[in-house]
Amino acid sequence: MMEVIWSEVALSLAKDIEKAVIPLFGTKKAAEVVGENVSGDTTEYVDKVSEDIALSRLNPLGVNVVSEEIGFVDNGSDYTVIIDPIDGSYNFTSGIPIFAFSFAVFKNEKPVYGAVYEFIPGKFYEAIPGKGAFMNGKPIRVRKPERGKEALSFYTRGRCMGLIGRVKRVRVLGAIAVELTYLAKGALDGVIDIRNYVRPTDIAAGVLIAREAGAIVTDERGRDLRLKLSASEKTNIIAVSERYLLNMVLEELENEP
Ligand code: IPD
Ligand code: CA
Repeated sequence: MMEVIWSEVALSLAKDIEKAVIPLFGTKKAAEVVGENVSGDTTEYVDKVSEDIALSRLNPLGVNVVSEEIGFVDNGSDYTVIIDPIDGSYNFTSGIPIFAFSFAVFKNEKPVYGAVYEFIPGKFYEAIPGKGAFMNGKPIRVRKPERGKEALSFYTRGRCMGLIGRVKRVRVLGAIAVELTYLAKGALDGVIDIRNYVRPTDIAAGVLIAREAGAIVTDERGRDLRLKLSASEKTNIIAVSERYLLNMVLEELENEP
């Protein structure tokens, strides 16, 4: 394969999608149901428009693509680009300005590059494995939480409610790719989703960025989270800035009835 500069592909693709979708932000048109995706959820107009742009750009590169609506596109390459053209579709169609483009590249199973572009504030987050995480080109890092003052994003669906009483703030922003970048830049101390609901397309790039920024990212048993390059596989995730927070979550999970 010819040499590809992934940061250029990711940013220019994000900008193309931005141009097409921003006029649809918060409109009825954006939410029109146009089909069903590989995990059985509805595909809305905005999902389709943004995915079509991504595919028309990535297919000519000859790479495999995993995307939320279409699933796995096997182009027989060693490289797989796993994307969510719009993470936070509900926010987008409802006029809540927290949504992003998520883009991660793997060579076979190894991560090569990750990017999340948060449209409304125009923030471009990147992970370069072994070199760190960046926001608009500047290095970012998780913060050291102040005990008792932690802020977590916690998708619970009724599980481990005790955790809520052990931290100061809980924020559920509805776009987990964005929330993982907030963990990476030290705006949140953890992102936890134990609904067995998120897919690798939602979190692949965010996990790379959070890890490169120093976060610990595990499954619900505290083992390093391994991402499958799939659009339908459901997973749980515990991503935190410090080990004591991981232990706190695991303790609550163990005490579950
Ligand atoms: C959703 C967001 C949300 C998470 C859901 C995802 P989508 O992605 O990431 O934070 O709670 O599980 O489905 O469907 O809006 O791209
Ligand atoms: Ca999506």
